[in-house]
Amino acid sequence: MELIVVKDYEEMSKKAAAIMSSQVLLKKDSVLGLATGDTPLGMYKELINKYKKNEIDFSKVKTFNLDEYYGVDRNNSQSYYFYMMNNFFKYINIDMSNINIPDGTAQNVEKECINYDRKIKEADGMDLQILGIGVNGHIGFNEPNVSFEAQTHLVSLDDKTIKSNARFFNSIDEVPVKAISMGIKTILQSKKIILLASGESKAKAIYNTVKGKISPETPASILQLHQDVTIILDEKAANLISF
Ligand code: PGA
Repeated sequence: MELIVVKDYEEMSKKAAAIMSSQVLLKKDSVLGLATGDTPLGMYKELINKYKKNEIDFSKVKTFNLDEYYGVDRNNSQSYYFYMMNNFFKYINIDMSNINIPDGTAQNVEKECINYDRKIKEADGMDLQILGIGVNGHIGFNEPNVSFEAQTHLVSLDDKTIKSNARFFNSIDEVPVKAISMGIKTILQSKKIILLASGESKAKAIYNTVKGKISPETPASILQLHQDVTIILDEKAANLISF
């Protein structure tokens, strides 16, 4: 694991965007694994700026998002589809047929999950996967005590995740309790992984990920076994790690 500690959220976002754009420059038809939440928003803004300055071309890029809320339609403003469209995709020249996000309203969830993994495999896996991290150490919606063997599957959200995500909803009762998420096994098949973390609320999860034992209790700890992981974190998220 390579750790890059930066001053703040802005620097983290710029660093992540720089790595993403290098990836796309080196390989125009890169397959990118994308994340939602507060953490990658600054990176998406930076990438949009780079696109506007003609520094990056997304026309051949293919994307796979980590997860989607179960039972939430893509037109719902709480869906991750809506988030991706409105925070990134509609501002860049990506081919909409190259975007992949699990369908939270699929009638046959099992089939949807199998198809999602098949599409990832057909694309030869992610060249670069962006991850955030939950306060409980989750990646994607792989909550504590997940099976490291799982591929894309339907998950029940942990209480801590529901509480944390309540900030995006009018009340905690509106937060979906299930989601379709890439599994740990799916994520680990990515050739390169970048994990982003900002703020003190992530410090404990980062400590457990980097210094803790590899255990399903901290899903992100499995990243210790991946051959190409870079963690970009700000000083607050790094404050429990001593170098
Ligand atoms: P956040 O979520 O970026 O909104 O903090 C990260 C996560 O839960 O994976």
